[in-house]
Amino acid sequence: MSTRRLRILDTTLRDGEQAASVNLNAGEKLQIARQLAALRVDAIEAGFPAASPGDFACVKSIAGEMRGPAVVALARAREDDIRRAAEALAGARRPRIHVFIAASPIHLRHKLRMSAAEALAAAQSAVRLARSLCPEVQFSAEDASRSDPEFLIELYRAAAAAGAAILNLTDTVGYAMPEEFEALVRRVIAGVGAGPEITFSAHCHNDLGLATANSLAAIRAGAGQVEATLNGLGERGGNAALEEIVMALRTRRDFHAVDTGIDATRLTAASRLAARLTGVAVPPNKPVVGANAFSHESGIHQHGVLAERSTYEIMRAEEVGAEAAVIVLGKHSGRNAFGERLAKLGYSLTSWQLDKAFLAFKRLCDEKREVLDGDLEALAGEVVSAAPERVYSLGAYEINCGNRVPGGPTAWVALKTSDGKEICDAAVGNGPVDAAYIAMQRIIKLDLTLENFAIAATSRSSDAAGEAQVTVRHAAGISASGRGISTDTVKACIIAYLNAVNNLYLAAAAKDVKLVPARP
Ligand code: KIV
Ligand code: ZN
Repeated sequence: MSTRRLRILDTTLRDGEQAASVNLNAGEKLQIARQLAALRVDAIEAGFPAASPGDFACVKSIAGEMRGPAVVALARAREDDIRRAAEALAGARRPRIHVFIAASPIHLRHKLRMSAAEALAAAQSAVRLARSLCPEVQFSAEDASRSDPEFLIELYRAAAAAGAAILNLTDTVGYAMPEEFEALVRRVIAGVGAGPEITFSAHCHNDLGLATANSLAAIRAGAGQVEATLNGLGERGGNAALEEIVMALRTRRDFHAVDTGIDATRLTAASRLAARLTGVAVPPNKPVVGANAFSHESGIHQHGVLAERSTYEIMRAEEVGAEAAVIVLGKHSGRNAFGERLAKLGYSLTSWQLDKAFLAFKRLCDEKREVLDGDLEALAGEVVSAAPERVYSLGAYEINCGNRVPGGPTAWVALKTSDGKEICDAAVGNGPVDAAYIAMQRIIKLDLTLENFAIAATSRSSDAAGEAQVTVRHAAGISASGRGISTDTVKACIIAYLNAVNNLYLAAAAKDVKLVPARP
């Protein structure tokens, strides 16, 4: 059967990161980019350099490291955005600037306050500038599914004439129906009338749960690229889920006659990595990568699957790398076996990070009998997420709680500062974690609110470690997250809070903001 090759642009690090409460730091973004490269995506949209110095630095570091996939930087149709994108991509082997401008009457009138003719002129000169700075340019008409198709054709023609090689059709608010989107993509492709040097692309959001269906519809209409995110991460209902599109094309190759370059056996590891680092858990019933995607509970289904797997299974767990792990590491395991298992789980640590994680692994081996994959992922996640320079680290601490403690739970915490001091304080709280956080807050003295707090077990055993994830927000409008793992759950929460504070100092420095104590 002859098939055509579809390109996949992953935008987890740009559109996915726009999801509420997702806040990835530079180390976490690099880790996800490495996993995307191992997955063999064709392009990684690494960020929006003009948005902040932090975003600029992330795009620059990913651009400097990636050798396989194209690295894409987003820019509005504005000169300063485009120059910033080009600067961030300077070290990339395959750079691509992605210029976008709104095209729908709603966006033009209320957001841009521009006429269609003005938007067309702005798009054309922006693409021309981008093409003068970068060998590959992608152009998106934002909110294309609610735009006038004839205007879209004019806009894309102008962008192609100015040098864009990839023309992206967007369903920005997840409004399109599959048949409608397929017809739109067909009409635009025919109307633009470009040769094979132009690739049409689709970018679908999932507000009505149709992002995968709409992406497949665009492929049927002739799109040569689709944009997606791991686990469908993204604003509101999210973006099209990469794993769903890839497995729909693979499982129904007979129907679509399309191949991607994705190594599907890495999908589970990539999904788990993205879930852990973003803090957005994958629902158990999520297609392809959910914990129940390959489990059969009902008797009738179990009977059928035992007799012949294809009765109720259209894909195999092995195809997406979801087979049960049989390797259990313990205190006699060496650094090599540890590093190899982490690599299988999707973590590419530097030698320094591996040393740190291995030390934490050995400590954990003293605390619990078996160290399972969930523990390893949590250990690696903590190392990847930690700021390279710490303003505070944990000294001693003591927690008193239980129903015989008068006056409620109390915490005493000592923090070591980067200039060699040790400061301690104590507090009473609603619970042991609350008490510890109030005590630390008295030492740190920043105007912080706890934006997100979650704690989970790293495995299902009773001696499981606790993994805490915390996001703090400073009054200056900067947020940062931290992760902590320990068999002592309160300690995991304390470490996560300190890691979030250390990351906050880093995020503030990247934005040129000085964090001043709220109280003397
Ligand atoms: O949803 C959208 O329209 C976008 C564009 C910037 C491509 O994310
Ligand atoms: Zn989008």
